[in-house]
Amino acid sequence: MAGATQKRRAFYVTTPIYYVNDVPHIGHAYTTLACDVLARFHRLDGRPVRFLTGTDEHGQKVAKSAEKLGIAPQEFCDRVSQSFRDLAAAWDFSIDDFIRTTEPRHIKASQALWQRLVASGDIYLDAYRGWYSVRDEAYWAEDELSDDGQGGKLAPTGAPVEWVEEPSYFFRLSAWGERLLAFYEDNPDFILPTSRRNEVLSFVRGGLRDVSISRTTFSWGIPVPGDEAHVMWVWIDALTNYITAAGFPDTESEAWRTWWPADVHMVGKDILRFHAVYWPAFLLAAGLPAPSRVFAHGWWTNEGQKISKSLGNAIVPGDLVQRYGLDQTRYFLMREVPFGQDADFSHKAMLQRVNGDLANDFGNLAQRTLSQIAKNCDGLVPRPGELARQDEDLLARIDGLLDTVREQMEAQEIYQSLVTLWEGIGLANSYIASEAPWSLRKTDLARMATVLWVTAEAIRQLAILVQPVMPGACGRMLDQLGVPPEARSFAHLGPAGRLVPGTPLPEPQGIFPRIVEAA
Ligand code: MSP
Repeated sequence: MAGATQKRRAFYVTTPIYYVNDVPHIGHAYTTLACDVLARFHRLDGRPVRFLTGTDEHGQKVAKSAEKLGIAPQEFCDRVSQSFRDLAAAWDFSIDDFIRTTEPRHIKASQALWQRLVASGDIYLDAYRGWYSVRDEAYWAEDELSDDGQGGKLAPTGAPVEWVEEPSYFFRLSAWGERLLAFYEDNPDFILPTSRRNEVLSFVRGGLRDVSISRTTFSWGIPVPGDEAHVMWVWIDALTNYITAAGFPDTESEAWRTWWPADVHMVGKDILRFHAVYWPAFLLAAGLPAPSRVFAHGWWTNEGQKISKSLGNAIVPGDLVQRYGLDQTRYFLMREVPFGQDADFSHKAMLQRVNGDLANDFGNLAQRTLSQIAKNCDGLVPRPGELARQDEDLLARIDGLLDTVREQMEAQEIYQSLVTLWEGIGLANSYIASEAPWSLRKTDLARMATVLWVTAEAIRQLAILVQPVMPGACGRMLDQLGVPPEARSFAHLGPAGRLVPGTPLPEPQGIFPRIVEAA
């Protein structure tokens, strides 16, 4: 019983595990950031949270990258995997677990999943004859390919493909089409956004082919149990990471009962098919519950151009942070487009957000309220008199934000939640502009104190609610409002946590500086 109650409240969110053939770029930072925002939100909302990320270390792509550098694959993986941990630290990602697919716990889980699939009759031995893209680590059918103009062929992703012929184990995916369609029907929110769901449905309705799930022409992978000439196809190995980290194969464990099924697998749109078709089929065939949701986000371009190695226009996560600040960068990435759509990075758009939304709207609101309190209220939280209608109205609107934002975050609508919160900031700005406490200073000190208290109380709640996206800046804002660390969760929103008159406040300091810089 306890398990059931716990699962209802627990929240398990995962990023894809990143290939170690490349150093972290904006795409990686973006996916993990979105998960960090969700993880922080649900923690602040009082739920037990598990936030998983990690690295995908097997397969031909990684083996080839190591070979190019002339080092052993494991040593290469150790090196690059660390750069993803460093990214997590630099971006303040609140991860609970970092999984590497070369760890013993994962090898054990992958082999256990394989054995379940053998036992259920979903795996058979045959031979694969067809196209393979090492860059995508994916098999492609002849009719999906195009000519590269030089006698070769390209996958729909633009990646080159090579002809492969080798003995291979297959997963009977063709037998799962109808059951997958029934599963999608029973779980209409399994794939979000809805446009992506429709793509997956039509792919599955088009008929599924069995999928080759082992390779024999290289050895950098997890050995197939009972047939060591084969290593597992890197995708079956990689997808299994989500259950490894939830305690699989020990399905009696506390971890398993608490965390599985995962609440959200966050992925880029390019890897949706693996997560929304193959993964639930593997799990259902193995007699395990499928995850509750796969959310596919869009891709970033750089100043209108596709990001590619050949163009050399990668956006380096560390550069953004250095140039604009961490909280600013986190805000921009979550606020620029509705989460799920493709987005374009531009310096101009970044400056507009930093100077408009942050410095002008949120920063100024806090700055002018706090500096007036410092100057005119002896640096203490002011004592409000009786509240007027407009004071009550503002507080009621701010008190009501959590309900709206919670609903949005349940659907991973991070952008919409920021729009909602900035509407709140807009209301507080209009309030202070029309109540003009700076003029009241000469005419009505009691009313001035009330207006400043109401505004500061609104800022307190806004800062608490914006924490998942900008933990550093909001933390500093709450410091300046004298809100102790233990009073910063959502349980303290609304009347439960009102600012206490008389609390001494530190000297106010600007939180969101304007950036004056030519493009
Ligand atoms: N290893 C696989 C995932 C296995 S999960 C069981 C993989 N790794 S990856 O490192 O290539 O990509 C990881 C993520 O980065 C994907 O979600 C992908 O969509 C994302 N991005 C890569 N480039 C991107 C952009 N330009 N913009 C946004 N996200 C992008 O795939």
